[in-house]
Amino acid sequence: MRVVVVGSGGREHALAAVLSRDAEVVVTPGNPAMSRASGLDGSGAITVTDAGPEQIDADLYVIGPEAPLVDGLADRLRAAGRSVFGPGADGARLEGSKAFMKQLLLEAGVPTAQHRAFDAPDPAIAYLRERTPPYVVKTDGLAAGKGVLVTDDLAAAEADVRAKLAGESFGDAGRRIVIEEGMVGTELSILAVCDGTRAVALAPARDFKRVGDGDTGPNTGGMGAYSPVAEATPALVDEIMATIVVPTVSALRVRGIDYRGVLYAGLMLTAQGPKIIEYNVRFGDPETQVVVPRMTSSLTELLASAAAGELTGEPTFDDGAAVTVVAASEGYPAAPRTGDVIDGLDDAIAVTGAAVLGAGVGADGDGRLVTAGGRVLDVCGFGPDLATARGRAYEALGYVSWPGMHHRNDIATAS
Ligand code: AMP
Ligand code: GLY
Repeated sequence: MRVVVVGSGGREHALAAVLSRDAEVVVTPGNPAMSRASGLDGSGAITVTDAGPEQIDADLYVIGPEAPLVDGLADRLRAAGRSVFGPGADGARLEGSKAFMKQLLLEAGVPTAQHRAFDAPDPAIAYLRERTPPYVVKTDGLAAGKGVLVTDDLAAAEADVRAKLAGESFGDAGRRIVIEEGMVGTELSILAVCDGTRAVALAPARDFKRVGDGDTGPNTGGMGAYSPVAEATPALVDEIMATIVVPTVSALRVRGIDYRGVLYAGLMLTAQGPKIIEYNVRFGDPETQVVVPRMTSSLTELLASAAAGELTGEPTFDDGAAVTVVAASEGYPAAPRTGDVIDGLDDAIAVTGAAVLGAGVGADGDGRLVTAGGRVLDVCGFGPDLATARGRAYEALGYVSWPGMHHRNDIATAS
């Protein structure tokens, strides 16, 4: 089978590597690290091309990032008769608009934080003042995981409301905001594969969104992840599927939305049970990097059957653990510097049980790999248990360097 993966980050590199166990994989636009050994690749070829997905013939198209989904790439490919894993623009609104997502959750009776949407500052601030901490202020539109403020400081929350609505902090994505009840608990990511009617859960994962050790500093796209998660027992995952994911797929169907792709449930495990923080309409990044490598059944077959609307059986995972640590460029998340030469990749990949996936990676005129984004590499470790996997990831990370590189030191320690 020939599979096209659309995207250029570490998530797409992980998908390509695991799909290549039993498929020929083409990645567009990809990144230069994907044409090199990663430590995770299967036996099939991985080709990187600049050709657009609509120009490439394949048996299956897997769309990584949210932007092309919101933009209707899956619809265009389906209209051309292609088999696509990824929702159409109608389903992608679940991530493209938090107000739409909240309305759907209400209709589906799915447990989530109370909320209200605003496009003017005075009513928003009046509402905020009636609430108790933590205060949660979100942009309605897409903001690459960075449009959320969670704070106990009312003045900071009010200032954030004004800045977002004035278009100062997130441009037009912030001109409509959502204010939410602050939920308290630990977080969990469940990636569910859906075929329009049915949904199956992949192995649970946890990611680390703040830039600094001990969950300090601003939110990022994710600084690391691990899988499995001890509290996420099979019974808890079943409860999440029954009370959250399956009712969501049904509510989408009622609206005439045939959702074939990943529903990524970002959950808070509260004292009242699991509640949804948000949905994404794509694989999580960096959760994918620790979830799909653990599969013992075929990822290719799973995604192809979901794309065909014919999901059968449950995916299976190994008994081991996986950890990924993001190596970020100087200035990330505020203002990442790019163009620094990356050293030490080959030594990192040579570490037993380690792999290095390229995320924000480019090449310079001499063909050397250079930093080209905020999150540059996902350094992964695999092993029989979490401590071994973490040790391998950090050992491999020790070989990688460029000026200003930074990472968290506590990924998978607080488990
Ligand atoms: P989001 O982009 O909506 O996933 O939010 C990013 C992060 O902000 C989440 O991973 C949570 O840590 C936090 N967060 C978002 N919404 C809430 C909420 N209602 N209560 C508490 N924390 C939240
Ligand atoms: N790990 C966060 C995200 O993919 O949005």
